[in-house]
Amino acid sequence: MSGPRDKTERQAAMVPPSSTPMIDPFGRSISYLRVSVTDRCDFRCVYCMSENMTFLPKGDLLSLEELDRLCSAFIRRGVRKLRLTGGEPLVRRDIMTLFRNLGRHLESGALEELTVTTNGSQLARFADELAACGVRRINVSLDTLDAAKFRQITRWGALGKVLEGIDAAQRAGLKVKINAVALKDFNEEELLPMIRWAHGRDMDITFIEVMPLGEIDGQRADQYLPLSEVRARLSQALTLEGSSHRTGGPARYFSSAETGGRIGFITPLTHNFCESCNRVRLTCTGTLYMCLGQEDAADLRKPLRASESDEALMEAIDRAIARKPKGHDFVIDRTTRQPAVGRHMSVTGG
Ligand code: 5AD
Ligand code: SF4
Repeated sequence: MSGPRDKTERQAAMVPPSSTPMIDPFGRSISYLRVSVTDRCDFRCVYCMSENMTFLPKGDLLSLEELDRLCSAFIRRGVRKLRLTGGEPLVRRDIMTLFRNLGRHLESGALEELTVTTNGSQLARFADELAACGVRRINVSLDTLDAAKFRQITRWGALGKVLEGIDAAQRAGLKVKINAVALKDFNEEELLPMIRWAHGRDMDITFIEVMPLGEIDGQRADQYLPLSEVRARLSQALTLEGSSHRTGGPARYFSSAETGGRIGFITPLTHNFCESCNRVRLTCTGTLYMCLGQEDAADLRKPLRASESDEALMEAIDRAIARKPKGHDFVIDRTTRQPAVGRHMSVTGG
């Protein structure tokens, strides 16, 4: 499916609008799929990865065609919002082919939104193309605006490159949201200046609590900063008003009267939001995780490859959704040595 396809071929590939929706045992309707298209990344953020990571052999990855087929099956089953993540999605070779092909579901109206979470390192190169594929909003992960600290936290990244990427994205007309992981003794003092910076550029900003995912080189407890504390502190400088704004994800938003922008809080630890979970996550090897914080998973690669028809695949999806767990059991404290789940965020996708 590389290269542009002609109109009739595209129309033939369009998904029929009606199919059984996916409803889990707790009555939650699944309308949001996140796909980690690669577990690789050109950064090594200290809270995400260890310095020496072992990545999947390239031969284990689903092809871009297979990823398209899987995403299209989920869209047929009622997924309205699709986010490509990683690792760093924009480092996967030829990834724009997948964006371009998925764009057909936006054109047909089957898909409401196609988005991407990126570290921004390759954005300067890809912003225009993303916009041309129908992407309207992107999330850029950025934990500090200080170049030396940026290098320290990402180990390998360059802040200037990411800022260039954000400029390019805004020039291309993409709505940018900044995601920052709140880290104790690292960016605590910077969160307010970051809000001012983001809002000054017409970007929302969301803070995330660090989650115990995968082995890293340090101690999670040394990184963990509860957002309940952050919010209390920010309230001394800003008038935060609860906002009904939702983007389909777990963030709860506040608007700030002083800066005129929105601040999101993703609080898996201080406030569990699992009851309204509408998401499942697919890895680049075709494993479906029904929860970011649980080990249980379903292999979709086997049924995908077993037949050209999607029947076995649809059955495997049904069986997986039927055991979506109620929620995660994250804890971060000094006595818990093991991460809640062994796999890193870069495997399951943020
Ligand atoms: N806890 C919280 N956030 C994480 N991210 C990566 N690993 C973790 C973790 N263990 C963040 C990235 C990015 C998003 C995809 O997830 O910084 O913003
Ligand atoms: Fe890469 Fe994102 Fe993990 Fe940082 S947090 S190493 S940018 S996948």
